[in-house]
Amino acid sequence: MAKKKSVYICQSCGSVSPKWIGKCPECGAWSSYVEEMPQDEITSSAKIRDVQPLLLGSIRGLEVDRTVTGIGELDQVLGGGFVKGSVVLVGGEPGIGKSTIMLQVAGILGTRGAKILYASGEESPSQIKMRAERLGIETDKLSILATNSLEDILTAADRDKFEYIVADSVQTIASEELSSAPGTVGQVKHVTYRMVEAAKQKGITTLIVGQVTKDGYIAGPKVLEHLVDTVLYFEGDYSRGIRILRSVKNRFGPTNEVGLFEMSSQGLLECPDGGLLGSTKSDAPGKVLVPVMEGTRAFLVELQSLVTPTYFQFSRRNANGFDTNRLNMLIAVLDKKGGLNLGASDIYLNIAGGIKITETSADLAVCAAIVSSFREKPVRTDTVFIGEVGLTGETRNVANIKNRLTEAVKFGIKRAYLPEKIDFDGKLDIIPVKNISDFLDKF
Ligand SMILES: Nc1ncnc2c1ncn2[C@@H]1O[C@H](COP(=O)(O)OP(=O)(O)OP(=O)(O)O)[C@@H](O)[C@H]1O
Ligand SMILES: [Mg+2]
Repeated sequence: MAKKKSVYICQSCGSVSPKWIGKCPECGAWSSYVEEMPQDEITSSAKIRDVQPLLLGSIRGLEVDRTVTGIGELDQVLGGGFVKGSVVLVGGEPGIGKSTIMLQVAGILGTRGAKILYASGEESPSQIKMRAERLGIETDKLSILATNSLEDILTAADRDKFEYIVADSVQTIASEELSSAPGTVGQVKHVTYRMVEAAKQKGITTLIVGQVTKDGYIAGPKVLEHLVDTVLYFEGDYSRGIRILRSVKNRFGPTNEVGLFEMSSQGLLECPDGGLLGSTKSDAPGKVLVPVMEGTRAFLVELQSLVTPTYFQFSRRNANGFDTNRLNMLIAVLDKKGGLNLGASDIYLNIAGGIKITETSADLAVCAAIVSSFREKPVRTDTVFIGEVGLTGETRNVANIKNRLTEAVKFGIKRAYLPEKIDFDGKLDIIPVKNISDFLDKF
């Protein structure tokens, strides 16, 4: 049979071209052509195929075959371990620890006797061996294949009946069916698609590593998310060695679950007790603590604010790890409802430890950090602030308050500013604040 020739398809309007074009003649989009394999032409017999839908009650339930890795934080993120035949994409910035966790997992599974193929297009076998020695991995069940060819990986997997494949990384692996270079959108999509196909047909659990860069590299894992079963992202703070593994999609478990790790010379170590993320012991003005929820877990996080007189015509407001629009809103509430004159101040907000706060439960803590820096009044290090702040200046309760307080108490917190008094068993002095002006009076 003659080999099918790849075509270029405009991702904006769908027009097809036999070669790459910079600007689409149909819709005018630039750089929108991506190399793909053409769909088979629909034959007349395909159109009249006699398909029979099944009644729901007649379908036998699928027993999910899970393998618990023993790395508790990873198992929790996966929803109880790897599901046989599933495809997991692990994304993250360069150097965050993707290859490290993959090799650790491969080492554990290999020691238990599973047959694993670790295919790397980035590193040579001796580099991988060096890392394995550092991580203390000793197993003969782990096969290393240094290749950039998808076909090599699939052939090896088929011939030697591997149960697991690790592909590190999808950006360095290319299929010979397409002529474009590894890492292009067409290649990463095609490679992932073929690996998913093999995983489903042969029951091979497949772990795919994907690079993401800070500026959101186009051929990054984002374009692959819909193809795979589970998507995990590594985030974190390089300087402190904290790594957060987050599930953003999971067909076999909860999403937005997080696992906490610390990078060390022996690899990624689990931090099962959560932790005081990125915190220092000092009580400088502008520093406050807030317990935030990540999935079903609470973490104590440090917020820092700096309020300085502005030297320009317009004051600057800058947030790192927090939504700048929400920061501006909270400043406006403090200004109008709290009577603080912040108009002539530059205000900076930073979430320590490279964490991103996306929930409104940190509103009160943000206000506290700003007020603390503005008034040059340090906040006691045994205090947390929890609550949402509305445009009218009133404070509102947030979900999972008891989980948050329990986590805070673990780290020696003795006082909590909350929207209202609640029953809490732990030894905690609760200060209820109805609204922003009440808060400023009690602060
Ligand atoms: N001897 C060591 N001691 C402590 N940490 C180390 C050591 N060697 C490497 N690391 C850590 O491992 C990280 C690299 O991990 P890894 O190679 O798994 O990352 P990666 O996400 O696969 O990177 P890449 O995108 O380059 O493939 C380094 O950034 C460093 O933090
Ligand atoms: Mg790597």
